[in-house]
Amino acid sequence: MTTWTPDLASRSGPRYLAIADALASDVASGRFHSGDRLPTHRDLAWRMGVTVGTVSRAYAEAERRGLIGGEVGRGTYIRAASGDASELLSPNTDELGNLIDLTFNFPPPAAEGGVLSETLAEIAADEGQLQSLLAYQPCAGRRSHRAAGAKWIALSGMEVDPDRIVVTGGAQHGMLTALAALTRPGDRVATEALSYPGIKLAARLLGLRLDGLAMDDEGIVPEAFDALCRSGDIKALYCVPTLQNPTTATMTAQRRAAVAEVARRHGVAIVEDDIMRLLAPEAPPPLSSYAPELSYYITSLSKTVAPGLRVGFVAGPPEAADKLAAAVRTACWMAAPLTIEVGARWINDGRAERILAARRREAAARRTRTLAVLGGYDVKCGEGSLHLWLNVPDPWHASTLAAEARARGVAITPADAFAIKRRDATHSIRVCFGAAADMAALDRAVNVIAELLESEPPESLGAVV
Ligand SMILES: Cc1ncc(COP(=O)(O)O)c(C=O)c1O
Repeated sequence: MTTWTPDLASRSGPRYLAIADALASDVASGRFHSGDRLPTHRDLAWRMGVTVGTVSRAYAEAERRGLIGGEVGRGTYIRAASGDASELLSPNTDELGNLIDLTFNFPPPAAEGGVLSETLAEIAADEGQLQSLLAYQPCAGRRSHRAAGAKWIALSGMEVDPDRIVVTGGAQHGMLTALAALTRPGDRVATEALSYPGIKLAARLLGLRLDGLAMDDEGIVPEAFDALCRSGDIKALYCVPTLQNPTTATMTAQRRAAVAEVARRHGVAIVEDDIMRLLAPEAPPPLSSYAPELSYYITSLSKTVAPGLRVGFVAGPPEAADKLAAAVRTACWMAAPLTIEVGARWINDGRAERILAARRREAAARRTRTLAVLGGYDVKCGEGSLHLWLNVPDPWHASTLAAEARARGVAITPADAFAIKRRDATHSIRVCFGAAADMAALDRAVNVIAELLESEPPESLGAVV
């Protein structure tokens, strides 16, 4: 039996919920392994100075969330199979329990466990549906799932015929699907000079050459895109026009029109990654709506609803539908129908929008909290963003700052990770405030970064002569 005593110092609200929350973060951080036995109700109550009833309610809540189970003769034990933190990619702590990892662009935690269990019960009660979800589906996804995709995309201000949509296992798979349908090895693809690292992985896998484009406060500079297209045969443009990763830039309507015009003039396909769009409801309609005949529009539920569902959609030009479906078939035959069914139900009955609203509120609170400490520096942090981009002041270098922060238990990402060419790496760091386990961890982390920025960097090794 473990000698676990939850740390409630930074938790407010009813004690039983605080204990259940503490248990959830300790499970997520890898403090426990599946099967670990928890203290008895009486033992924990005695050690914490609370009533046995409070511990019983806490354990009942944790059981409802699927974290623990109980059996006669075995007591209460950890059920959630996170055991080792690397199995549940929510690495807010290392194995010593002291690293606050803000390197992943995670949506802030929200409590969808209950909604999922409700939905799974609905599906379980639907016998006909259950059988059909176990069967192979059309590679592009079944019609009702593609229709749900069209409904989700409509929230971003673009009407799309479901026949143009393929269902994917998230946006990363959507990028691979679109690029595989569009390109051949050796093709050149333009992107932002600082871009989402997933495009570098996809380009390497598909044998594509990436060209980074100059950026300003709105993202890609249309003149730079035009100049590149004049210089050679560019097959496609991959970009994130809303809440760009990593700069958080959002293109205005005029900028979108200008970029679409260049693409149209040179016949270059647009691969638009709009994964953050619904976190920024004021953003103009998608870039793809300015040149639908050239565009492959990618979205997913990952940042807005739940990344673990792996629900994504790609809407391409009508004539691309077969190639997109073939790309899905080649990679995985079809996206897993059960989780797509869950996502489609949530989109159709408004549960997805309710979760989105909660995510937005939590993201806004974390953004405010982060800016309260780091907002005085040269930062970019578009409204709705899940991260902050900070230009580190002299004499710091981004990589030295990241190394020093890590030594103090906080992981952040220096600009090199996003640079298409090494020379494009600015002295900036990305801080993913959505990834902190809770506000207390976020406060600790941003204060470490601020303290470092206010201090002198360590002396560099060796004298320069
Ligand atoms: C810009 C961008 N595109 C795509 C992805 C991957 O999304 P998904 O989890 O839906 O595959 C991410 C994840 O961080 C991202 O930031």
